[in-house]
Amino acid sequence: MRILGIETSCDETAAAVVEDGVRVLSSAVSTQHELHRRFGGVVPEIACRAHIEHVLPVVATAVEQSGGGLAELDGVAVTTTPGLIGALLIGVTAAKALSWALELPLLAANHLHEHIYAAWLADRTPSLPAVSLVVSGGHTSLFLTEGPLEHLLLGGTVDDAAGEAFDKVANILRLPYPGGPAIDRAAAGGNPRAVDFPRSWLGPDSDDFSFSGLKTAVLYHCLGTNPTREDIESASYGPQFVADVAASFQEAVVDVLAGKAMRAVERHGAASLIVGGGVAANSRLRERFEREAAERGVELHLAPRALCTDNAAMTAGLGCHLLLAGRAASLDVEAVP
Ligand code: KG4
Ligand code: ZN
Repeated sequence: MRILGIETSCDETAAAVVEDGVRVLSSAVSTQHELHRRFGGVVPEIACRAHIEHVLPVVATAVEQSGGGLAELDGVAVTTTPGLIGALLIGVTAAKALSWALELPLLAANHLHEHIYAAWLADRTPSLPAVSLVVSGGHTSLFLTEGPLEHLLLGGTVDDAAGEAFDKVANILRLPYPGGPAIDRAAAGGNPRAVDFPRSWLGPDSDDFSFSGLKTAVLYHCLGTNPTREDIESASYGPQFVADVAASFQEAVVDVLAGKAMRAVERHGAASLIVGGGVAANSRLRERFEREAAERGVELHLAPRALCTDNAAMTAGLGCHLLLAGRAASLDVEAVP
């Protein structure tokens, strides 16, 4: 069974072909980082225009690289929620048009479930039930996962998402957008214990997350308690200062993510732990989760690094399960932000 996936929820225009839910035959991603960089974040209007320009060429590339044609496809999967509404609409409209013209089932995928499904595209299938942690630019969410399509929300962020905190702290440190990879690189030369930033646990039993206080603590550490926008934009720091702050900030985020995820595994008696989303590409996060999982005997499934950030292989893979479950969408399915 071959599914074409289309993903345009944020700032990557992506298409992929996946066979039988797990074999990635092709995965094409056109990233818009260059377009958004000078604004320090994603500008929705610019994202939409770029999706319109790129969606059909990216689909054509994915189909061509799959080694088959449109005639070999069994369904068209697309991210319908959540994301930037204008951006989602481009992918959803393209998928509807293809589904109608090719007379193929349309499969509506949830982006958070896609990030979890990325773990299925690695070598081993996760044992279930699993605790799933999605750490992306828009979300920090813990789920109890009973299957590729069954996820019960345990908790989420009460303010900034983990990726958003990386992007904002990178901005404070005058590192380029996207901030996550820039902090990851800068932190490599820093001391994670240089600054004791706060860890927000939100009480001993909470499965929720908060990163806004940590971001403010970084700002105060760099510029004092009352900086203006000009102070932030004109600041310049030495490379070792940046490396130490980046490493200490990253350590604080990873401490909380690992602590809460491991605790949820224990509390729910889960058979494994799944981690996906853009921040799951972070080197320190991967190191820490691998070490702690090994120490505690937890079966860990990190999404493959290349499939942590937005891609359509996870969309197509999840689409296969939607089709097998008889859950095709109708052509009037809506994009929901
Ligand atoms: O999953 P994703 O591609 O998009 C959303 O669904 O939001 O995640 C993007 C986020 C951005 O905030 C980016 O800075 C972060 O993931 N990110 C990272 C790394 N690579 C991407 N954060 C930390 N370390 C990384 N290596
Ligand atoms: Zn995403």
